[in-house]
Amino acid sequence: MGASIRYGKYRPAVFDFIEANRLVLERMPSAFFSVNVVARKRGKDTPATNPYIRLFERKTTWTPSEVAVFAGKLDYRRYRFWDRQAIRFIMWLTNGPTARATCAEFTDWQEVERFAQRISAMELTD
Ligand SMILES: Cc1cc2nc3c(=O)[nH]c(=O)nc-3n(C[C@H](O)[C@H](O)[C@H](O)COP(=O)(O)O)c2cc1C
Repeated sequence: MGASIRYGKYRPAVFDFIEANRLVLERMPSAFFSVNVVARKRGKDTPATNPYIRLFERKTTWTPSEVAVFAGKLDYRRYRFWDRQAIRFIMWLTNGPTARATCAEFTDWQEVERFAQRISAMELTD
C-alpha cells in the first residue's frame, strides 16, 4: 500500500482501507510506502527519520512487514492557484524550488527498485 501526503496528512481512505482489511493484512506479508517532499532532505529520507512515517505509525496499529518512504514530485503548473502559492511558500521556508514553472521529481528510483525487490522476495503463503 502506498499513500502520499497533502497538507501534512494522509487521505482518510488510507486508514479506512486498513481497518476494513485488517484481518487480511495481518495474515500476510505486507508493505507500506509514504510519498512526500520532506523526504527529499537528507536526515528525513528514511522510515526512521521521516516525520510522515511517524504520523502513519501514530494513526494505525497495523505493522507492515516492509516500510519505505520516497520523495515525490512537485509540478506547480498542474496545481490550482492557491495550492501553488501555498506549496511555493512552504518550499521558500524549507529552501526548496519556488519558480512558478517548477516541475521537479525528487524520487530516488533506485531506492524504489530496491523496495520492489524486497517485496518480490516476500514469502506469500496465502
Ligand atoms: C496540495 C499538495 C499538498 C502537499 N503537501 C505536502 C506536505 O504537507 N508535506 C510534504 O512533504 N509534501 C507535500 N506535498 C507533496 C506531495 O506529497 C508530492 O507532490 C507527491 O508526489 C504527491 O503525490 P499525489 O499527487 O499522488 O498525491 C503536497 C503536494 C500537493 C499537491
